[in-house]
Amino acid sequence: MTEPDLGSLLEMLYAYQGSAILMGSHELGIYEVLSNGPLNAQETASALGSAPRSTMLLMNACVALGLLHKIGDEYANSPLAADFLVPGKPGYLGRVVTKEQEFYQPWGRVSHAVREDKAQLPPMTARLEKTPDTARNFLLALHDLGLLNATALPDHIDLTGHKKLLDVGGGVGTFSILLAERNPELRAVVMDLPQVRELAEQTIASCGLGDRIEFQAGDYNAPSLGEGYDVVLLSNILHDNTEESCRQLLAKSYRTLVEGGLVVINEFFLSQDGASPPVGAIFSLLMMLENQGAAEYPVEQIKGWLLEAGFVDPVAHRLPDPSPMVVVVARRG
Ligand SMILES: C[S@@+](CC[C@H](N)C(=O)[O-])C[C@H]1O[C@@H](n2cnc3c(N)ncnc32)[C@H](O)[C@@H]1O
Repeated sequence: MTEPDLGSLLEMLYAYQGSAILMGSHELGIYEVLSNGPLNAQETASALGSAPRSTMLLMNACVALGLLHKIGDEYANSPLAADFLVPGKPGYLGRVVTKEQEFYQPWGRVSHAVREDKAQLPPMTARLEKTPDTARNFLLALHDLGLLNATALPDHIDLTGHKKLLDVGGGVGTFSILLAERNPELRAVVMDLPQVRELAEQTIASCGLGDRIEFQAGDYNAPSLGEGYDVVLLSNILHDNTEESCRQLLAKSYRTLVEGGLVVINEFFLSQDGASPPVGAIFSLLMMLENQGAAEYPVEQIKGWLLEAGFVDPVAHRLPDPSPMVVVVARRG
């Protein structure tokens, strides 16, 4: 890594302002309104119900960031905004933008979190109960991110001859869907908290896989995850948990599998020293902010836990750039 200079330091310092402009303009609905054609600031403000002067200042800042173009006194979505920030477009990332807004304030409390070693968000169970809309958006954003970062995951897992997969903390079923689409004989059970059922069943049905993927309400902290599976998938689960919980999850996964069954782990790649690549190291800190006692774990540490749980032949595959993910597969001997 080249040593950062003063310019990079200032860029780091002010980067939050760009995030705030992106999130605020999306929340107001500027990109949606402009998807019908260019408007001036006054017209945009009328459509949004916002103050004209402030709307103009925000839109000028969006132009400066390349999110809008300005022609005369009219504003139009830039190609980037038109592709990714307009609801209803196939590449729409609005749910991810809204999810990041949820994390914006916890990031602002990072020094407090580090001083106290204390997560800044309530556990998922409480978020599903107390702020269900935010939690639902979070789950759907993870689906969008899964499709963005890990569509290559099925290329790295040979599930020939495997018939029954347990997707632990499977969310809305993203990875069961990707694997079932690739492996026509595979059936899957998406196990997640009961409040996730409706969203998962809708997502699975919308992919036409309701006959092969079922949702099962459950708690992965329970003593057993079930039995008779020949694949257990833990996608983005270890990083939500403490080291001790990860070890327990892997031991329970082992007991859930039939002989020769596979455990498949999908995680952000993190180097052995925990400090690279930047996306992995920063994600690890985010996990500390989100879940009490959690972090991202280096691949070698995960492989060590797998061996300790009795698995054999753990192999890690980095997903192709720009995906930040790594898939670790091991077998119950
Ligand atoms: C980071 S998300 C991962 C979702 C999905 N596997 C993916 O890769 O996108 C963690 C998931 O675990 C679920 N979860 C959290 N605590 C759980 C528990 N105790 N038992 C079952 N599921 C849980 C959450 O509802 C959420 O869907």
